[in-house]
Amino acid sequence: AAVVEHTFNVENVMVRKLCYKRVITAVNGALPGPTIQVTEGDTLVVHVFNKSPYNVTIHWHGVFQLLSGWADGPSYITQCPIRPGHSYTYKFTITNQEGTLWWHAHVSLLRATVYGALVILPKSGHYPFPMPHKQFPIILGEWWNGNVIDIQNQAQQLGTAPNNSNAFTINGRPGDLYPCSKKHTYKLKVVHGKTYMLRIINAALNSQLFFKIAKHKFTVVAVDASYTDPYVTDVVLLAPGQTADVLLITDQIPRAYYMAARPYVSAQNAPPSDNTTTTGILIYDKLPYTSPVMPRLPALNDTPTAYKFSTSLTSLAWSPNWKPVPTKLDEEMLVTIGLSVSPCGPTNACTGVPNNPALRLSATMNNASFLLPKSPSILQAHFFNVKGIYTPDFPDQPPLKFNYTNPANVNSRALSFALQNTRVKQVKYNATVEIVFQDTTVLGAENHPMHLHGYDFHVVGQGFGNFDPVEDRKKFNLFNPVIRNTVGVPAGGWAAIRFQANNPGAWILHCHLDAHLTFGLATVIIVENGPTPSSMLPPPPPDLPQC
Ligand code: C2O
Repeated sequence: AAVVEHTFNVENVMVRKLCYKRVITAVNGALPGPTIQVTEGDTLVVHVFNKSPYNVTIHWHGVFQLLSGWADGPSYITQCPIRPGHSYTYKFTITNQEGTLWWHAHVSLLRATVYGALVILPKSGHYPFPMPHKQFPIILGEWWNGNVIDIQNQAQQLGTAPNNSNAFTINGRPGDLYPCSKKHTYKLKVVHGKTYMLRIINAALNSQLFFKIAKHKFTVVAVDASYTDPYVTDVVLLAPGQTADVLLITDQIPRAYYMAARPYVSAQNAPPSDNTTTTGILIYDKLPYTSPVMPRLPALNDTPTAYKFSTSLTSLAWSPNWKPVPTKLDEEMLVTIGLSVSPCGPTNACTGVPNNPALRLSATMNNASFLLPKSPSILQAHFFNVKGIYTPDFPDQPPLKFNYTNPANVNSRALSFALQNTRVKQVKYNATVEIVFQDTTVLGAENHPMHLHGYDFHVVGQGFGNFDPVEDRKKFNLFNPVIRNTVGVPAGGWAAIRFQANNPGAWILHCHLDAHLTFGLATVIIVENGPTPSSMLPPPPPDLPQC
């Protein structure tokens, strides 16, 4: 195994997009930032120099960080941010996983422009499918004409959702349906009669996205760096945080075809969302640019298509790194997720007893709205036994049982007016954990992509309405459920996940819609050390940023 070393200079650069010039924070001056490629078993060393005016951390989305939790990256969870003018070296070994992951800033809204692909090649040199001719990252993103930190601060002051983005992007480019963008549309040149692998990543902040290429079908072979049974489809759905490796056969008439993405809007009571379409162009055999064929994308609210895609995936049970579903459970949790309102002012004045009559938007898990600690991080507090940073009392069950998904049910008000606090769930090393996420309709149903750091998990079941512990359990797939690190919990429904807590550390579990994370849709799972040195988290590296 090799040591792969990179230097990330996080700095402000001037870019021109959608007819505007604007300063963004980016890694090594590029959007997306550098693609990192490793082979499973390699050690990745990334020196991050923060030359920007903002606090920065980098998270390696989906990487297990086995015994290297200090390198995970979420601000105030595993480290304090790298302050302007400071640096930190992330060092970790990538084991037991291969496929497509990505990296992004994990502080404020900065991941809007600080992100890139992380490709893990198989150690054996072989995929569990024929070797593709070539492979390309396709990173879907979101673009704001304003400064994202200002947008975030303003939303927090007002207690509202941040403004919609001004465009979606493919590999950093909005595409030719947007103003002033034609020249810089992403182009993928292919030759006829080959198989390509697209490593698709949804790096958007707040939108699930449908992705299609006109006249072509995809074979999905992996999601979230975990192999799937080959699944043929003409549309891919990705929630923010998710990835999909798809094979594309270039078997159509040689000409130009659009690839296109636009949102799946699951929120019922939300203000009208951005419905614009980002495009790239697939060009056969170096043809000149002729008007490409446009695919027909699903309607914005096409929940049946979204649900079909999500429920059709199964894991490839004979592939390397596959693991069986835990069947004997040590921890069983039912966790409501959703938006809510809280009676207090700007976030930081919102701890404890409500002190401000103004209502603000908040988001909760089991009616707790997660508040990040200020200093030190949760992992530091856990490791060094610092009291008063968090409480290990995150509830295993909702505070009240009722009809979670009936909007007319007045009891749903009982899951409103949540307080902000830093409640975590602490589990024993190697505990087997089941979490059923239950969406609520307190402020309208919405599909929440729930992401767990440090692990991936089996998605053993999902459905609409309230989870029925007797009937729904009978339908669980305990044989070959899809393995993911981010699951889209159906709007007005539920999803059940299982994993074995074999990696000590402090792992944030949160909605990957950035706005919801900011509102508190998060908690932390602290996994205790095991009995042997090989099951204990080592001390932090000496350059771990302090608050
Ligand atoms: Cu992709 Cu907590 O992050």
